[in-house]
Amino acid sequence: MSMPQTSFLLHKAPILRGSLSVPSAKNSVLPLLAAALLCDTPVRLCRVPALADVTAACGILSELGRPALWQGGDLILEAKPLQTSVLPACWMERMRSGVFFLAPVLARTGRVEFCAPGGCNLGARPVDIHLEGLCRMGAVCEQKENCMVLRAPQGLHGCNYALRLPSVGATETMLMAAAAAKGVTRLDNAAVEPEVLDLARFINACGGCVRQLPGRRFIIRGTGGLRGSVFTPTADRIWCATVLCAVAGCTGEVELTGIDPAALSGLPQLLQRAGCRVEVQKNAIFLSCTGRLQGLGMVRTAPFPGFATDMAPLLAAAMLRAQGFTTICDTVFTHRFACAQGFAALGAPVCLRENCLTVGTLPEEAAPVLHAAPLQAQDLRGGAALVLAALQAEGESRLHGVEYIRRGYADLPGALGALGAQIRGW
Ligand code: UD1
Repeated sequence: MSMPQTSFLLHKAPILRGSLSVPSAKNSVLPLLAAALLCDTPVRLCRVPALADVTAACGILSELGRPALWQGGDLILEAKPLQTSVLPACWMERMRSGVFFLAPVLARTGRVEFCAPGGCNLGARPVDIHLEGLCRMGAVCEQKENCMVLRAPQGLHGCNYALRLPSVGATETMLMAAAAAKGVTRLDNAAVEPEVLDLARFINACGGCVRQLPGRRFIIRGTGGLRGSVFTPTADRIWCATVLCAVAGCTGEVELTGIDPAALSGLPQLLQRAGCRVEVQKNAIFLSCTGRLQGLGMVRTAPFPGFATDMAPLLAAAMLRAQGFTTICDTVFTHRFACAQGFAALGAPVCLRENCLTVGTLPEEAAPVLHAAPLQAQDLRGGAALVLAALQAEGESRLHGVEYIRRGYADLPGALGALGAQIRGW
């Protein structure tokens, strides 16, 4: 993906303080924009953040003949017939989430043609589970030069399918396909991330029938067609984690409203163990961190309800100067910690071994002093983690590659700026 040369200038943050309301989740909005194609009447998605990935998804919708229109902070999707079954390569290559359009376009037109989706380079990101699941529902898959064509001229039918691993995207593909299929689909070993459950909630709000059963299982009754609805996507738990880790790394206190703390997959408990004060309410979280954090030992990411892979680099950034080590092993992606290079450039003691990153010092060592350095974001969450690290460094750091960050944060400098951080160059 080619990145325009835009950058942030960051200074060491003062003690961060304030209260913020959490925006809607990118990872919920993107599948919802695709799922809206299944609806025969208009859909209104409320409080949609203006992200580069949302612009790319709107680009795909426009090419398909279903333009999305902004009305204030809401997106309105008209219910018009699809004009093509070809997903435009120019938009697909910009983000991984182009893959969400496979199931709805296939279900609506009996065919979908697409080239490999782009997205952050976190290691190999195959789409075999999406394809295998759709084939189990009656689709036939064929290679066409560098692209793929899926066909289901007779429509999709329900099936029993156990995912090889609980892929978030593949579960979402199967929920959308099953909602449009004839008959009943049973999914096993499915992902149960809050954004997956939000898609199920949307399908049900549109007249579909998705039921979650205990133990990573879903049962979906195809209802032959969905109607549109007015829907507010769930809150962005990764955005929330970004702010919490910024405050933990820089010290300060923050109240975040509009988030269910249970969606934070253990981050509040980890920060509490590191020495912060945490108070959780039904729909809010308060965090206060003073003094040096305590290393957390070993932390492993895992599919929800395990600790989220997207939060791994953010937690690492918070723990850079901690007393004692924190080793975070990402079991979901192989290249999660490209940001380690930037942490090291700032003078943080880091050790990257395969998919495990260790930060912090021996308990008896003084806190390392970080110094400004030129930095390069190499992916979305790693880029945000470099922002958090640079806010702990003396002097002015310049961070390049902020296009990655724009994919998932409408205005990260604005959000952290509201707490007192100085970030220029948006
Ligand atoms: C989604 C999130 C991303 C998050 C990830 C894991 C969105 C838009 N993105 O990505 O932020 O980091 O979940 O929580 O929601 N895999 C296969 N074959 C497949 C599909 C996945 O091998 O067909 C592998 C992937 O390479 C990866 C693992 O499964 O190693 C998990 O990926 P998955 O859960 O599918 O992530 P995404 O849906 O791409």
